[in-house]
Amino acid sequence: MIEQLEQVEKQALAELEAITTVESLRTWRSTYLAKVGPIAEISRGMGKLSAEERPRVGQRINAVKQSLQGAYDALEQKLIAEQRARELEHDRVDVTLPGRPAPAGRLHPTTQTLREIERIFSNLGFTVWESPEVETDEYNFGLLNFPPDHPARDMQDTFFVKMPPGSPKVVMRTHTSPGQIHAMRKFAPEPVRVILPGKCYRMEQVTARSEMMFYQVEGLAVGENITMGDLKGTLQEFATQMYGPEATIRFRPSYFPFTEPSVEVDARCFLCSGKGCRMCKYSGWLEILGAGMVHPNVLRNGGYDPERFSGFAFGMGPERIAILKYGIDDIRWFWSGDLRFLEQF
Ligand code: DAH
Repeated sequence: MIEQLEQVEKQALAELEAITTVESLRTWRSTYLAKVGPIAEISRGMGKLSAEERPRVGQRINAVKQSLQGAYDALEQKLIAEQRARELEHDRVDVTLPGRPAPAGRLHPTTQTLREIERIFSNLGFTVWESPEVETDEYNFGLLNFPPDHPARDMQDTFFVKMPPGSPKVVMRTHTSPGQIHAMRKFAPEPVRVILPGKCYRMEQVTARSEMMFYQVEGLAVGENITMGDLKGTLQEFATQMYGPEATIRFRPSYFPFTEPSVEVDARCFLCSGKGCRMCKYSGWLEILGAGMVHPNVLRNGGYDPERFSGFAFGMGPERIAILKYGIDDIRWFWSGDLRFLEQF
């Protein structure tokens, strides 16, 4: 029996020698050290031994078990340590490599221009306000003195919002002017001085000069004794601050239903310095905004008595303002999402 035992021990240790992975080590253990296996088999033969022989053999069996268990433990530790070392080596981070630079984001040129416009008018005492992008036909047109079916509505090709039958007509606002009504109804009969920036929508042919979605900044001042002179002074001050002291603007008589008198304001084309180019349609001037004295009907719709109050209003397109400032040749760049364009700002 002892011989058999030594045979098993020798074989087990020899096999152990060849083991290089934790998995095969586990298999080895279930062969030699489990409840069934060659050693357990030998132990079962103990019953046939004499009382003197039994303790001696028993001791040998325990000694072999211990020796195999000890060899197993030692190898297990060694293999686990080796495996961990391999993993560490494989996953090593080279902290001396240069980092990858995170691409820096930037503000969209329209956002930058809006902030500049807001800064200038804030300094002139205007509060920045916002009003909805979706309006009723009444706010977008009616309360602004557009008579029903008046051709002036054709100046602005409108996107209509599909509504359940019987609802009032709802539109994507074609301009920020309905914000004037919201502001007046909020403040009347107190004086009001606000600018209202936001997106507008028109079903228009997309060209170098017009997009279907664009921003506007509306301005409104209502109080006692406000005159056209105040409007001209405010807009000249705006142009000077926006474009510098050489900025040249001019006022042209025009027509809008919600102002009387109405003007259009042009800035000298910065792309060609007034010589004439594609951008300014060879006129040397670029229209930057519409303006005028608030129409008495509109003052009344806003809650002011036109006998006592007067006011001026203006509406400008910040993309167009930016085009002038940076000499951009096509308004379609703004919403193209083209990084080659955006990264220049
Ligand atoms: N709402 C006009 C447009 O979109 C622009 C405008 C003109 C606004 C004259 C005004 C104004 O406040 O007084 O074309």
